[in-house]
Amino acid sequence: MSVQNAADLKLRATGIVKRFGDVTALEGVDLEIGTNEFVSIVGASGCGKSTLLSLIAGLEEPSAGTLEVNGMPITGPGRDRGVVFQQATLMPWLTVQQNVEFALRGETDLSRADRADRAREFLGLVGLEGFERARPAQLSGGMQQRVALARSLSYGPEILLMDEPFGALDALTRRTMQELLLEIWDRHRLTVLLVTHDIGEAVVTSDRVIVMSRRPGRVQQIVDVPIARPRALSSERTVEFQDVQDRILGLIHGTE
Ligand SMILES: Nc1ncnc2c1ncn2[C@@H]1O[C@H](COP(=O)(O)OP(=O)(O)OP(=O)(O)O)[C@@H](O)[C@H]1O
Ligand SMILES: [Mg+2]
Repeated sequence: MSVQNAADLKLRATGIVKRFGDVTALEGVDLEIGTNEFVSIVGASGCGKSTLLSLIAGLEEPSAGTLEVNGMPITGPGRDRGVVFQQATLMPWLTVQQNVEFALRGETDLSRADRADRAREFLGLVGLEGFERARPAQLSGGMQQRVALARSLSYGPEILLMDEPFGALDALTRRTMQELLLEIWDRHRLTVLLVTHDIGEAVVTSDRVIVMSRRPGRVQQIVDVPIARPRALSSERTVEFQDVQDRILGLIHGTE
């Protein structure tokens, strides 16, 4: 556990239970995530990863347990948390620029011009300058996910929640997006919680990897990733990367 004191603690889950009718998706999840930590969640399909993320996003309520951000209970969605899903869920009738501006409509201290500037800034950050006036349908899947990322970062959330954000992308685009995410995190430090099926992705990006047990989901083990920062995809060539990846694969396949 790398969260040394209360001031560093960004997110805390205590005794989280989530039932859907007869199905218990989560059974007693405890978790502490530090400010600006990058944490991934891995585990078998159906073990409750997406459920946990939507509870933290405030899109669902736990059946039992408490969830806190900065020591305050989560009562619903909030601008302190940005969410990126597997599909970009952009509004097809709006341009790329308008999609990001729409997410900024709640920023009442920003003028229209400020919102437009902010949208352009974050589209630039994800490498989409020049595509502001395109419609989502004119973009590739990877570019649409970049818009979704720009949109979620544009209002300055403290926590970025991502549920298999690159899962629908081809292998090469996925690599590019992983590099982009590492770059953004290096430059803009924020707390990230990433759900992924890709163990390599979890290891190369994260400070810690949460391995969940099969349904009903619990935290089976939390694995520290002792690879130096700043990271790049070349970090995958280190011995530390191989060791941690093997350990996590062992945990998931039940050989440890
Ligand atoms: N809205 C819902 N209504 C009923 N059951 C649900 C609902 N959401 C999730 N579940 C159930 O909760 C369990 C956990 O689902 P969840 O989607 O969180 O798993 P997951 O770990 O994200 O899986 P995957 O890796 O396949 O995305 C599953 O058994 C699922 O059927
Ligand atoms: Mg899921």
